[in-house]
Amino acid sequence: MTTSSRYYLFLIFLLVFASVKAKNIPIRQSGLIGHSIAEFIPEGFDASLVPSLMLQKEPVIKKALPAGWHIVPEFSFNEGKASAVVHLQGDISLYGGGEVTGPLLRNGQTIKLWNTDNGAYGTDGGKRLYQTHPWVLGVRKDGTAFGILFDSYWKAGLKTDSKAIAFNTEGALFRVFVIDRKSPQEVVKGLAELTGTIEMPPRWSLGYQQCRFSYASEQQVKEIADTFREKQIPCDAIWMDIDYMEGFRVFTFNKTNFPNPKRLNNYLHAKGFHSVFMIDPGVKADSTYAVYRSGSAKDIWVKDVGGREYHGKVWPGDCAFPDFTMPDCRDWWAGLYKQFMATGVDGVWNDMNEPAVNDEALPKDQRLGTMPYTNQHRGGGSLPAGPHLLYHNAYGRLMVQATRQGVMAANPGKRPFILTRANLLGGQRFAATWTGDNLADERFMKVSVPMCITLGLSGQPFSGPDIGGFLGNTSPDLWAKWLGFGVFLPFARGHACAGTNNKEPWAFGGAVEETSRIAISRRYRLLPLFYTLFYNAHKTGLPVMQPSFFADPKDLSLRDEEQTFLLGSNLLVVPSFAKEPKLPAGKWEKISLVDGEQSDPYQAKLLLKSGAIIPAGNIIQNTGEKSLETLTLFVNPDSRGNATGELYWDSGEGWEFNKGNFSRLKFRAKKSGSKTILHVVAHEGSYPINEQVAHLKVIVLKDGKEYSETGSLKQGVLVQM
Ligand code: NOJ
Repeated sequence: MTTSSRYYLFLIFLLVFASVKAKNIPIRQSGLIGHSIAEFIPEGFDASLVPSLMLQKEPVIKKALPAGWHIVPEFSFNEGKASAVVHLQGDISLYGGGEVTGPLLRNGQTIKLWNTDNGAYGTDGGKRLYQTHPWVLGVRKDGTAFGILFDSYWKAGLKTDSKAIAFNTEGALFRVFVIDRKSPQEVVKGLAELTGTIEMPPRWSLGYQQCRFSYASEQQVKEIADTFREKQIPCDAIWMDIDYMEGFRVFTFNKTNFPNPKRLNNYLHAKGFHSVFMIDPGVKADSTYAVYRSGSAKDIWVKDVGGREYHGKVWPGDCAFPDFTMPDCRDWWAGLYKQFMATGVDGVWNDMNEPAVNDEALPKDQRLGTMPYTNQHRGGGSLPAGPHLLYHNAYGRLMVQATRQGVMAANPGKRPFILTRANLLGGQRFAATWTGDNLADERFMKVSVPMCITLGLSGQPFSGPDIGGFLGNTSPDLWAKWLGFGVFLPFARGHACAGTNNKEPWAFGGAVEETSRIAISRRYRLLPLFYTLFYNAHKTGLPVMQPSFFADPKDLSLRDEEQTFLLGSNLLVVPSFAKEPKLPAGKWEKISLVDGEQSDPYQAKLLLKSGAIIPAGNIIQNTGEKSLETLTLFVNPDSRGNATGELYWDSGEGWEFNKGNFSRLKFRAKKSGSKTILHVVAHEGSYPINEQVAHLKVIVLKDGKEYSETGSLKQGVLVQM
């Protein structure tokens, strides 16, 4: 054969190969389901094969796509594996993907969507993590934006390059939703219209929280709690990791070390603390253990391919796994919380729910780190029966749905607080999250900022890392740097792995203890702001923690800024580690919250946007104390002397706020000659806020100087400049 005929043969082979490979699938139906939100359904899509667990309700196509709508996914299907690709026009900054390592700006990144217990996961991207968020946000040069939601939780890869966003699954054809709006903020709100928002959290869950794997006994927990109060370091919750259990059996308490959980919880409550206890999905396969026996009687365990009860190893040894796809199983699981919560437990921590299985006894090439893909889930309701390969990425999400159901049924008058490690896009409706087993290392500290921003851009506003780093020993310097800005993350908890050094705020010597007290006190001063931002996240889906480019989506220089972040849209947090951060244009004024912070190099800098007002409260030791006794408003008037801001407040617990028992105040500041006048210009809701605010203090910032005056909510305040 000549060289040229060989070449032609090769070309023919390529053509044939390509035509087999790229089996394009036409779109069966498309149209608008909401304001600038389009749905695309491919030919051959079967909802029963890809039931949505991300959307909060089934969408209805109401209108045809408008003329000129140009973001249209292309579907393909090959050997049982569906894919969709969206071609990009022009320079687009890409974000999203949920829980990811690596940079904030996601152009040229690939993520593997397969929920995985991947401790010390690295910081440069590429590694599988605990959650699945098949969602990309694109921001155009002119600041307009779009978002793509691939509605499938099959094992998948999500790849972005300069030309396209490609989502390749190992499963059936799925739908794609596209949101195209005038700003990234509006697109993120559109995501919330599709997938829902977080429920309003109890106020205590916004306080600082202290955890360790594990505080070993009731006595030790009490000592930790007492030390916070003695040292006047504010704190709201102490966390109980797996060692509180009897032989790691979930829903039990260790008879020697935690003999009387009610007594412990009463003790904590009396001192203004709340308690959070861990519950894992793996149930020890032990015929003398009531939880295992009742699960077996109800036949709710995941089965192997041969239909036998599947067992995998977790902390307690051989475990059976609840099949959360079954409504009966979720009801059974929910029922277990009744007695458990009756001991006074306040919050629940669901861990290891990827689900993680320890199969290290197997040869390396056979290890999955989870249950076999062929295991069987039986489904029910809208969920079909299917293999673990289908349901793996939804396991944690279904677990927290059941947990929430149980916690709500046990304490219907209270707002549940649940923290989960594994989840799925839309799972913010059920639980908050943290970024898993990070390392006590500067790189992990830095990446915790883009990780939490990205979670917020992907619908999950309530997240944070293990402050200080979980694995490995933490140095005083690392702790101080991390806590200095970690207190401004939506979820602020210190945690430490077994065998590592003590990581409480006082464990690093006197100077760092003082740094910690200042840092945590700063968070408590901002409680009114945090609470207002969580309310907004609950109402609209706008994240609590936002990327700096949200301050000006047209400013291209901000697009990859990932050292700094915004709290809401008005307060910029600049961590002490930040080197030459790109700051948004305009006159941002520094605010000062706690004595001693100015001379402490570890404290993050806080900058208030021009034209903005933010609320702050007193330094309190826990959120049950009177935060608003003196309500402080920081005001940064714009060039015309105007500023606006707001405060949301309610009882901090329960559901009365849904019946109007809340207070939402809007403030306006105006210049009048050499004075600034501040007034409440709108007041919604019936919560008696005037009884809480004994004094109103207004601090006007101008050119680095503070001008302040006190007054009352009713009469407003006049500040002489
Ligand atoms: C893994 C979790 O990620 C970690 O936070 C926890 O301390 C351990 N499991 C022990 O429960």
